[in-house]
Amino acid sequence: ESVRAQVCEMSSPGDQGVCFVGTREAVVQAGRVVRRVHGRDVLVLHHQGALYALDLHCYHSGGPLQEGDIEEFGGRLCIVCPWHKYKITLAEGEGLYQAVNPLVKPLRPVWCSKGVKQRVHQVTEVNGDIFIRLDDSAGAVESDHYQTEEYRLIVGEA
Ligand code: FES
Repeated sequence: ESVRAQVCEMSSPGDQGVCFVGTREAVVQAGRVVRRVHGRDVLVLHHQGALYALDLHCYHSGGPLQEGDIEEFGGRLCIVCPWHKYKITLAEGEGLYQAVNPLVKPLRPVWCSKGVKQRVHQVTEVNGDIFIRLDDSAGAVESDHYQTEEYRLIVGEA
């Protein structure tokens, strides 16, 4: 299955934020699926038996997260943006960074959180079919910026 954004056409009219992604089998086989859900580009991933959904464009500068590697940092599973290697936790969308606490000896860098930077969405499975529900919680998340028409015009996307 292509990782290019495929427009979601199967939302029920009464539930604007829900999108059918595919059968579990198809999603597991693809590993990564991109969908445009009501104007929002979302990446759905299958990794080690779990499913995750998050905004497709990296909160830092709009990098293509569908091409990022998945690695663990400080015991947390992250997608690493291919552009500038920012680490984003898959489950929460937190941006991680390394810091050294000068008061703790021996000095050693540890992974810390900048808070939620990438909007994550809910994935559900119903009878072998996978759906995503867009997160509509109030308050801006930095990745929202790269989901705007303004940004799409800048990158020249139709
Ligand atoms: Fe993702 Fe810069 S755009 S790290």
